[in-house]
Amino acid sequence: MYNILKHLHSGFRYIVFILLILALIQALTRLFGKKPYTETNRKINLFALISAHTQLLIGIILYFVSPMVQFNNMGAAMKDAVLRYWTVEHWVMMVFAIILITVGHSKSKKAIDAINKHRAIAMYYGLAIIVILAAIYQSGRPIIGQV
Ligand code: HEM
Repeated sequence: MYNILKHLHSGFRYIVFILLILALIQALTRLFGKKPYTETNRKINLFALISAHTQLLIGIILYFVSPMVQFNNMGAAMKDAVLRYWTVEHWVMMVFAIILITVGHSKSKKAIDAINKHRAIAMYYGLAIIVILAAIYQSGRPIIGQV
């Protein structure tokens, strides 16, 4: 159970990354090129949001089966940098990134003109990518690899 979930969660990061980066590239190029907001743009932004929420669900289940998470012994976990990372820091940073993605998607949906739709995605998804990369870098595990 633990190994399956860990591999699933580990591999799923690529789907989240690819969709977020595609959404960011299209938002930036269309924002600076003053291009309209198309149905394809809307779908890629939506799929990126769905993939992030799916990763959140897998992460929540993994949290309760991972030996790296010591939530029933917080005192000991806080003293060990690796246990502290997996018990607290990883999910806090990732949930923050997923909130940014959710807010960005909602702002883009509510915006009336194309420029503001593209701008919301570029800003919020862009920040989320930085937070996710920083969190994985901090974990000491490779950003690419180890699926
Ligand atoms: C965009 C969101 C997320 C991304 C990109 C992400 C990415 C990752 C990566 C790359 C790993 C390392 C896997 C490996 O070394 O094979 C990992 C492990 C893990 N993640 Fe996430 N994660 C996300 C969200 C979450 C959330 C929200 C939670 C908890 C609520 C969570 C809980 C965990 C746990 C418990 C581990 C396993 C540590 C272990 O047992 O080795 N993740 N995650």
